[in-house]
Amino acid sequence: MIVVIGSINMDLVLRVPRMPLPGETLTGGAFQTIPGGKGANQAVACARLSRGAVNGQPVAMVGCLGDDAFGQTLRAALVADGVDVSHVTTLPGVASGIASILVDASGQNSIVIAGGANDLLSPAHIDAALPLIARASIVVLQLETPADTVRHAIALAHGLGKTVVLNPAPAAILPAAVLAHVDYLIPNEIEAAMLLGRAPGTDGHAASAAALQALGCRNVIVTLGAQGVHAAFDDGSDAFPARAVNAIDTTAAGDTFIGGFVAALAAGLSPAAAIDLGQRAAAIGVTRHGAQTSIPYLHELELP
Ligand code: RIB
Repeated sequence: MIVVIGSINMDLVLRVPRMPLPGETLTGGAFQTIPGGKGANQAVACARLSRGAVNGQPVAMVGCLGDDAFGQTLRAALVADGVDVSHVTTLPGVASGIASILVDASGQNSIVIAGGANDLLSPAHIDAALPLIARASIVVLQLETPADTVRHAIALAHGLGKTVVLNPAPAAILPAAVLAHVDYLIPNEIEAAMLLGRAPGTDGHAASAAALQALGCRNVIVTLGAQGVHAAFDDGSDAFPARAVNAIDTTAAGDTFIGGFVAALAAGLSPAAAIDLGQRAAAIGVTRHGAQTSIPYLHELELP
């Protein structure tokens, strides 16, 4: 089983010709609400990219929703993808998390989050999910839920001998004691620089990945958008160029990559083969609009 612990958001998406300047009013395109949240996106990607795989694993989500209409829709979206939601808690009198997203004509996005119920995911919710976590082979986390809860979950999962995957997004500084319990750290360039306490671009990708390994993470995979990924494994490092595609919306591209990587790893593929599967999935995802609406199914991938 794969357990994803993290955020569940309703994405409020507006397409714009370009990003507005401070104080400027722009006319955008059609407005859409699309299920998202880094945690939920990664859970859905794991589910879609596990189903039909030899040795594909079931997926469960641990998170919090509000008792509003968005919460009902977001829970139904996870259920529709076969994700176990028995430890997705609906909190009374609380709003579900939302993300306000602008997507420009080049496919780049800017995102502002109101955490809502995600901000109330507590160590007690993690302890309540212990029976689920105990059955997992891989536990996946991000940083859109409270830092003390993430730290607690990582310590618990590591203590149980689980493979811990951390996507340190949004960017934050983490104690070395937490990083030492991470088996696969998957930051983008900005998040990698933040973890190292340096300005983005200070180090090359290989140097960043090696410096993060030196902080204690067993394996580091730095995602580089259209340039692909740089991976530093415990037995060597390598660059994995991305496929050239016509990207129209990069929302959740990283989540799709991580879901594909984790699904493949859980099914027994090597880390390098898992990166390849994640990249193939993300290359399809960026040619479609939205977060969960863009994540492909395993049967859509051309696998070697
Ligand atoms: O990674 C993309 C996601 O970030 C969006 O779905 C949004 O909800 C934010 O969490």
